[in-house]
Amino acid sequence: MKSFKVPYWDLHSQYQECKEEIDLGIANLIKDSNYLGGDINTNFESSLVRYTGAPDVATVNSGTSALLLTYTLLGLDPGDEIITPSLTFGAGIEAIVQAGGTPVFVDVDEYFHIDVAKIEEAITDKTKAICYVSLYGQTPDTDKLRKIAEKNNLCLIEDGAHAFGSTYKNKKVGTLADITCFSFNVQKNLGSFGDAGAVSGFHEVCDSIRSLRVHGRDGTKGEFNEPGYNARIQNINAIVCDAKLKKLDEWIDSKRALCHIYDEELHGVVQTPKKRIHSYHTYYVYAIGCPDNTRDDLQVYLEKNGIQTRVSWPLGIHMTEAYGHYCLESLPQTESVTKNVLNLPCYHTLQDQELVINKIKEFYG
Ligand SMILES: Cc1ncc(COP(=O)(O)O)c(C=O)c1O
Repeated sequence: MKSFKVPYWDLHSQYQECKEEIDLGIANLIKDSNYLGGDINTNFESSLVRYTGAPDVATVNSGTSALLLTYTLLGLDPGDEIITPSLTFGAGIEAIVQAGGTPVFVDVDEYFHIDVAKIEEAITDKTKAICYVSLYGQTPDTDKLRKIAEKNNLCLIEDGAHAFGSTYKNKKVGTLADITCFSFNVQKNLGSFGDAGAVSGFHEVCDSIRSLRVHGRDGTKGEFNEPGYNARIQNINAIVCDAKLKKLDEWIDSKRALCHIYDEELHGVVQTPKKRIHSYHTYYVYAIGCPDNTRDDLQVYLEKNGIQTRVSWPLGIHMTEAYGHYCLESLPQTESVTKNVLNLPCYHTLQDQELVINKIKEFYG
C-alpha cells in the first residue's frame, strides 16, 4: 500500500489513546466468550442514550442495517416513495429499494443538504418519509424539515452516518428527526473495528429495531413475530465505540480548530465549507470546492506531494447504473459537487497541515 506524508486517515492513534480500556474490554470479552448481546451491548446503548439525549437507541451491525431496518419498520408498499438527496452513499438508496420503496431524488443546496425549497414539489400521495443526510458532519435546518414533515404527515428520518456528535440549536443528532440512523464504521466520527451502527428514536421504534435485528424473533418463546434480519452489533465493536465515546468531544474540538485554520488560510483560494447557522459541524469531512474544473488536477498534484485526499461522490446516486432509472432529470447542484469537491485530510492528530495548505496555495499560484 502506498504511504503518504499526510495520509487521509489516522485511525491508529485513536486506538492508542483508548488502548487501555479497549485492550481490557477485549481481554474480558474473550475470557467470557461474550461475543454478542448481553450487558456489553446494553451498556453501550445506555452510553449512546446519555450522549445523544435521545429517548432510546438500538445498536445494529452497520449504518446500512440501521437504514434498512428503519425502512422495513415503515412497512412500505410497492410504489411508496421516500424523498432523499442523491448526494449520498448508495447504502441510503439501496435500503429504500430493498425495503420495497421508491427513492425520489431532490437536489442539494450550497451546504450539501437536501434543498428544503424543492421538497414540497416532490411530495405526492405516495410519499411516506423524508430522509435528509447530515452530510460531512453538518446538519441542515431541521426546523424547516420538521415543519414540512409535520404539515404533510410524513416520517422524518435523518441519515446521521456522518454526524454523530453534531448538533442543531444545541440539540444532538439523534434527537432532531423521528428516527436517526448512525454508522460507526471504521472511518466515522465514532469508529469501531469494522462495521457497526445504531438507530435512535422513541422506545417503540427502537424496540422494533431490536426485534428486526434478531430475525423478528421473540427471545423467550423462540417465536418469529415478523421476518427480520441478522443485524446485531458485535460486542467487540460495542467495546471499542464505548471506549472512544469518552474521547469523542475532545477529538471533535481539536478537529474543529484545525478546520478553522483551513478556513482562514484557504479562504479566497478555494471554496471553503459553508457554515449553516445554528449547526455545530463535526467535520467528518472537510470538503473544499475547487474552481474552474481543477479538482482532479489538484488531487493529482497533492498526491505527488505526498498528500492523500478523497472524492466522496464521483457520481450522484441518480447517475448510477443501479438507481439512474428512478430519476430522469438532472440535479445540477449534485452534479457540480461530484465534479468539483475534494476532501482534505482532517483528523485531530493531523500533522503537516501547513504542507497541505501551502501545496494548495502553490497549485493555484
Ligand atoms: C451517508 C451514509 N449513509 C450510510 C452509510 C452506511 O454506513 P455503513 O458503512 O456503516 O453501512 C454511509 C457509509 O459510509 C454513509 O456515508
